[in-house]
Amino acid sequence: MNILVIGSGGREHAIIDAIARSPKNAKIYAAPGNAGIAQLAECVNIKDTDVEGVVEFAKKKAIDLVVVGPEAGLAVGMVDALTEAGIKAFGPTKAAAQIEASKEFAKDLMKKYNIPTAGYAVFDDYAKALEYVKKEGCPIVIKYDGLAAGKGVVIAMTLEEADQALKDMLVDDKFGDASVVIEEFLDGPEFSFMCFCDGERVYPMEISQDHKRAYEGDKGPNTGGMGAYSPVPIITKEDLEYSYNNIMVPTAKAMVKEGVPFKGVLYGGLMKTKSGVKVIEFNSRFGDPETEVVLPRLESDIIDIFLDIVDSKKIEEIKWSKDVTLGIVLASKGYPLDYKKGFKITGLDGLDSKVFHMGTKMENGEYFTNGGRVLFVVAKGKTLAEAKEKALADTEKIKCDNLFYRRDIGHRALNK
Ligand code: AMP
Ligand code: GLY
Repeated sequence: MNILVIGSGGREHAIIDAIARSPKNAKIYAAPGNAGIAQLAECVNIKDTDVEGVVEFAKKKAIDLVVVGPEAGLAVGMVDALTEAGIKAFGPTKAAAQIEASKEFAKDLMKKYNIPTAGYAVFDDYAKALEYVKKEGCPIVIKYDGLAAGKGVVIAMTLEEADQALKDMLVDDKFGDASVVIEEFLDGPEFSFMCFCDGERVYPMEISQDHKRAYEGDKGPNTGGMGAYSPVPIITKEDLEYSYNNIMVPTAKAMVKEGVPFKGVLYGGLMKTKSGVKVIEFNSRFGDPETEVVLPRLESDIIDIFLDIVDSKKIEEIKWSKDVTLGIVLASKGYPLDYKKGFKITGLDGLDSKVFHMGTKMENGEYFTNGGRVLFVVAKGKTLAEAKEKALADTEKIKCDNLFYRRDIGHRALNK
């Protein structure tokens, strides 16, 4: 079998790691991949949004399955183009990927089908938006209505902050020319509920919790994620059943009814509020860094799962290990704002933890930083405390002049 994975981050490294564990012994390609992925796959220099390039390569190499990791490729219709060319592709169509690419689409869908989420209104006019914020009061949440790599959300505690966010998004078009969704502020622990979805059928994965803020104690700016662990003890079996039955399944059904059936990974970013579990956002793909703590717990053959989802074939069972995983992101100093690249990394050999590469490159046999988030160190244990201790010990062994990390990953579960 020939498998091509699109993307270049830790998520794709974890997907490829799971594919490499399959007894099928597939030949794996990655486009464009990274220095860590290169240990398991042949990296080819094609951009993750280059639809034509990917289709052409897949034909040339007789690829049996393409797995599209990042949202950008999905949003430009990579799965549609591959499917049209007769190549099996795991991931939603461009139309179904709107559930992530357009917050307005997602919110309207949830409203229409009574899926629990924060109250909201959509604006493209600055003055009207500001008037609404004044009426509703703070705290209030302002979201840019497009893809902004996890950085288009402002939790405004004061009217001044809200006003600044509206100016950035609607007057100065900081992320591009799109409207904003203004949302009611919700409070409570968050968790990531990813499900394999073949349109009709929804298969839950083990849940995880991301840490979005840059610094310890959940301080500082929002990032793509600074660490994660799985499972999440504060989320009960009842919470999960509720989330599956009242959020994930109805959303998949709603997508079918709307004529945009969702195939791939439907990711619910959920919050356990005092009035029940509610949707913060949907993503149309595996989460990053969640995937890197969830897939190491997968015991079933991921290639079978991907193929069954693509072919809409019923899956009997998906097996997960009872181990607990916890991972720590090493990010470039300055991330998520300005940061420099090209710093040498040593100490990666002989660690017990899995080290997923998020943004690295190799030159003359040495590793260098090549992104905002650089490495993700994931350890397994019987308990969360054990996994954390192992992950921290290995993180400390990695040497680089320009990386920082949080030492408090898992704190919401460990410091109760
Ligand atoms: P999103 O990109 O929509 O997931 O938002 C990023 C982060 O902002 C979420 O993970 C939450 O921590 C926070 N957030 C988003 N929406 C809300 C909301 N309505 N109330 C409180 N916090 C929110
Ligand atoms: N970790 C959040 C995301 O993948 O969107």
